[in-house]
Parts: sequence; structure tokens; C-alpha cells
Amino acid sequence: MKAILVTGGNGQLGTELQRCAWPAGYEVVAIDVADLDLTDTAAIAAKVAEREWAAVINGAAYTAVDKAESDLVTAWAVNAMAPAAFGKACAEAGIPLVQVSTDYVFAGDKQGAWEVDDPVAPLGVYGASKLGGELAVRTSGARHVIVRTAWVVSAHGNNFVKTMLRVGAERDTLTVVEDQHGTPTSAADLADALMQITVRLVEDADAPTGTFHFSNAGPTTWAGFAREIFVQSAARGGAQAEVQGIPTSDYPTPATRPANSLLSHAAIGKAYGIQPRAWQDALGDILDELIGANKA
Ligand SMILES: NC(=O)c1ccc[n+]([C@@H]2O[C@H](COP(=O)([O-])OP(=O)(O)OC[C@H]3O[C@@H](n4cnc5c(N)ncnc54)[C@H](OP(=O)(O)O)[C@@H]3O)[C@@H](O)[C@H]2O)c1
Repeated sequence: MKAILVTGGNGQLGTELQRCAWPAGYEVVAIDVADLDLTDTAAIAAKVAEREWAAVINGAAYTAVDKAESDLVTAWAVNAMAPAAFGKACAEAGIPLVQVSTDYVFAGDKQGAWEVDDPVAPLGVYGASKLGGELAVRTSGARHVIVRTAWVVSAHGNNFVKTMLRVGAERDTLTVVEDQHGTPTSAADLADALMQITVRLVEDADAPTGTFHFSNAGPTTWAGFAREIFVQSAARGGAQAEVQGIPTSDYPTPATRPANSLLSHAAIGKAYGIQPRAWQDALGDILDELIGANKA
């Protein structure tokens, strides 16, 4: 069996990576903090050396964006030093590393979608630490792919879809930020893309490497996303609420968010032939799982 080591096994992405239809002959070994604390870089080296892995997907991260502002040492340990340790260990083992990164490496001040080689300028600790992870992997000597994503949602864990459904069941009207632009990403769709990339890296020594972007397709805002959640939820007999758009300035948070998180799919399409589907369709699958099939 070709064993793929997946970190963040209890997270949104890690959960979906375990549910993917991996080709015959592949085995996913998903671990989380109880199995391996990523702040322990010696333990990372030992885990990679423990057996013959075909590849590593580092899906774990310190994802508490606001908490990271005051907990920067842990954020950097998990988001930068752990990828560095995986990069070193994967280089030594001669296996590929797939590292997951974020739109937060960008300042969000561009018109249009961010290309993979656009200048990075993180606005806070989370983005800076994830950028540190990117740089560590790029300079580790490991054959690698870095996939930046944004606005990840799924039927599991804590995310915007689940928050909207919970709050929408309690209130008739919600206020949601309308001046941050981006595209939601289904963790299942992201996992499928990462599976395709990982299998190519394992099977083909000449598979494309470098940095790519994956989100679902089509622009929206958080308020636009919330409205679509309630349209699709109502059609399934679930919560519905009215969404009033507000400016970011009315919803202050410790960490500054990028105003534009739109990610270009040009590179991942060219290198891997991956064409993400519309975010509304991906949302429908998540709501099917959370609420049930569309009754409309
Ligand atoms: N969520 C988003 O909107 C978003 C946006 C852009 C990029 N990304 C990136 O996408 C990837 C997947 O995100 P996600 O949404 O699946 O995140 P998630 O649901 O928050 O899962 C993160 C996982 O990392 C684990 N983890 C945290 N600290 C750890 C440590 N010290 N040792 C071992 N494991 C640790 C968590 O374990 P516990 O739950 O046990 O703490 C959790 O299983 C991450 O690289 C993230 O940076 C996410």
C-alpha cells in the first residue's frame, strides 16, 4: 500500500481527505494533535521516519486567526516551524510534501483575483506564520506543492455555514460583512484536488511542483454567502433569516482580514487540469449533508 500521512485529521480538510475516493493501493493515515503535537519538531521528524510513506499532506494549522494575534509563538510553531520540520524530513525521506496555505498571505488590496506569484504582504500573525510555512517548505529541498485556499467550509467542525445556520435559527435578521470579497471553498472539493495532486506527485517524478490556488468558483462577499446559505437552507426546510450587509468597520476583530481574497485558478488549471465548480453547487452538497436534500 502507498501510505499518505495526513495531519489535521480531525479538522475540516483532514476529515474530507479521509472520505475521498483514493485510487486502489492508497491508504490514508490521518493523525491529529493527540497522535503528534506539531509544536514538537523532533516528533515530526520521528513520525516521517517511522515508516515508508508515499507522501505527506500537512493539512493541520493554527487556524484561530484572532487568537493568533496574541498567541504568536504557538501560531508560528504550528504554521511555520512544523512545515519546516516536515520539509526537512520529507527531503531526507525523498517523498513529496503537500502544504496547505491561505489567502491571508495577501494584503487583499488587489482588484481581481490573486495570481500565485502576486506579491505577498500578510496583515496579521496568522497570515505571516502561514507565509513562514510556505517559505520553509520552498527552501527545504523537499519536492513540494503548496496550495493556498480560502473561506473553507464543510459539514464538520466550526465554519461560516454552520454558524449562519445556528444563528439563523435563533434570529430573524443577521448583520454580515459585505465589503470583504472572496469565494467559499468546500473542504470536500479541496480534498479532492489535493488527492489528485498527491497521487500525481507519487506516481510521476515530473509532476508539476510549486504554488497553486484552489477555492470554488465565482465571487461573492460574506453577506452574499450568508444570503445564499439561507436561500438554500429554506429550500430544504432549514433555518432562514434576512441578511443585512454591514461594512467591516462595524465588525471589528483583533486580526485584520483581507478585503479581497479572490484566488485565481489559472495555475492549478494549467498544471493539473483542475477546474473548481461553482461555490453555490458545493454549498448545496454541504447543506444536503447538514439539513437534507432540497425539497423545492
Ligand atoms: N478554514 C479556513 O477558512 C481556511 C482558509 C484558508 C486556508 N486554510 C488552511 O487550510 C488548512 C485546513 O484548514 P481547516 O479548515 O481544515 O482547519 P481546522 O478545521 O481548524 O483544522 C485544523 C487542524 O489542525 C490541528 N492542529 C492545530 N494545532 C495542532 C497541533 N499543535 N498539533 C497537531 N494538530 C494541530 C487541529 O487539531 P485540533 O482540532 O485537535 O486542535 C485541527 O484538526 C489549514 O492549513 C489552514 O491554514 C483554512
